[in-house]
Amino acid sequence: MKIFLDTASIKSIKFYNDMGLIDGVTTNPSLLSKEKGNPHSIMKSISNMIDGDVSLEVIGTTYSEMIKEGHTLKLYGDNVVVKCPMTPDGLIACKKLTNENIPVNITLIFSANQAMLAAKSGAKYVSPFIGRLDDVGNDGINLINEIKQIFQNYDYGTQILVASVRHPIHVIQSAKIGADAITIPPIILDKMIKHNLTSIGLNNFLSDWKKIK
Ligand code: E4P
Repeated sequence: MKIFLDTASIKSIKFYNDMGLIDGVTTNPSLLSKEKGNPHSIMKSISNMIDGDVSLEVIGTTYSEMIKEGHTLKLYGDNVVVKCPMTPDGLIACKKLTNENIPVNITLIFSANQAMLAAKSGAKYVSPFIGRLDDVGNDGINLINEIKQIFQNYDYGTQILVASVRHPIHVIQSAKIGADAITIPPIILDKMIKHNLTSIGLNNFLSDWKKIK
């Protein structure tokens, strides 16, 4: 399963990329709003820092606006994937950009039907938001199971990019299902790295070493 970092923080991307953990990055307008600086400069920098796919989201709501923005975003790097919303216009933009060999990530997916239609439109990735489904009392992980089964049944080439991840167990569950990729906020990746028993064990090793005369 590919691991993408769900952030627009250059500092976090560098930190985890130095560990070799990052296969790509996903950003969205909300994440960019948390960072200082020009959002377009940040998106360009991220695309240059990372070899793998970097999803950059359009702001326009009509397909012509999305396509125009998609062309601009694609100039930021060969690895740019244009992120379009799961709307009728988003699907038209997806079809047209895909026909131009510009890969698209359809975002804000909340049902298996939406994922199937995004795949039909040629999306490279679909981004089901599992945490937001859990937040409203639905079962986000079950959606990943459904999409996986449908994509396997019909051999769709579209990849499942699990999004809106809230905790490390979401990551394990997604990997067990066989999701193609997952985008993880830095705070969750940090929780995946750390374990209390690792810290205790390391402290014990270091204090025992000091006892050696
Ligand atoms: C990534 O592509 C999504 O925009 C992101 O995972 C959404 O996460 P949130 O539900 O925590 O905002």
